Amino acid sequence: MYHISGRHLKERTRMIDKNRLLECIKKPMTDYLNQMKHTLRNWEPLEEAAKKLLNGREVKDDDVPDVYLPVLRMMRLIAEVTRESEWDWSNPAIQKFFANKSESPLYQIFTNAIVGTISEIIQKTDFNTLVEVGTGPGQVSDALCRKMIDDKIHIPLIISDRAPGISRTRETLRQKYPALTIDSFVWNITREPPRELLATLKKPVLLFERFCLPYAGHSAIDNIAPLADLMIMQDDLSLSGEKAAFDILYSKMGTNFLIFKEAEKYLKKHFSFIHTCDADLAQAVNYPVTTFTIALK
Ligand SMILES: C[S@@+](CC[C@H](N)C(=O)[O-])C[C@H]1O[C@@H](n2cnc3c(N)ncnc32)[C@H](O)[C@@H]1O
Repeated sequence: MYHISGRHLKERTRMIDKNRLLECIKKPMTDYLNQMKHTLRNWEPLEEAAKKLLNGREVKDDDVPDVYLPVLRMMRLIAEVTRESEWDWSNPAIQKFFANKSESPLYQIFTNAIVGTISEIIQKTDFNTLVEVGTGPGQVSDALCRKMIDDKIHIPLIISDRAPGISRTRETLRQKYPALTIDSFVWNITREPPRELLATLKKPVLLFERFCLPYAGHSAIDNIAPLADLMIMQDDLSLSGEKAAFDILYSKMGTNFLIFKEAEKYLKKHFSFIHTCDADLAQAVNYPVTTFTIALK
């Protein structure tokens, strides 16, 4: 395991501890749970749709409640594309689909939840660097930058991705938010971070990611966790450990099936406090996963 120099460590005036952290996430997570309970109600129709698609049967838009349509369309795309060939990100149909996906109400709820959580934390405690892994086109980073401007909080942001296109995302963000300090690095999180990235960190560091870990797998936690004093993960982690039809379908696009217990084993090596923020939701809407996990050193 690599080590991070403590030379930048400044005295923490507003120390983050477990209680303060729980206090900070209370409102954004309550908002998220209420929105999800209202929006989703019951997750089972999607699982039924996934079973049919896996069996090569048709599922019409009308067969599921409107809110699930973006997910149904994604599953349909996976089923259609992988019936004849391997999943290929450069396939034009796939690129077109992803260009519009982030506008769906469900995605907006996810974005508001992670940005709301980060912004509560950085308003109430002192972090000196924000790091995002698997930034992609930067929807979360963009919303976070906008929020930092609105709240008049300027913390240096480092975005990263294994794809070299991350420098384009950085330039777009710099142009939109010239008052902020935004850096970018190519980093495949199945490997240790680049030295240049480590050299720019000022502790304490808040690291976050959304929907990147499924592509990298549980063990990538060993590469990202050493950087983070606090880590926020927004990934679907299975609570039962049993693959649903939904998971089998998604794994066809090369994602790993993530299991909470397995992720927790890795997290425990690096953090003293691990918290599932949305445990209530699993019960309320029959949701087989937890989506928000936070871990504190
Ligand atoms: C589904 S996209 C999510 C993008 C963004 N986080 C969001 O929520 O809108 C997954 C992203 O993870 C990146 N990714 C996949 N595997 C990775 C790895 N091993 N290391 C770093 N980034 C990775 C992909 O390039 C892609 O940008």
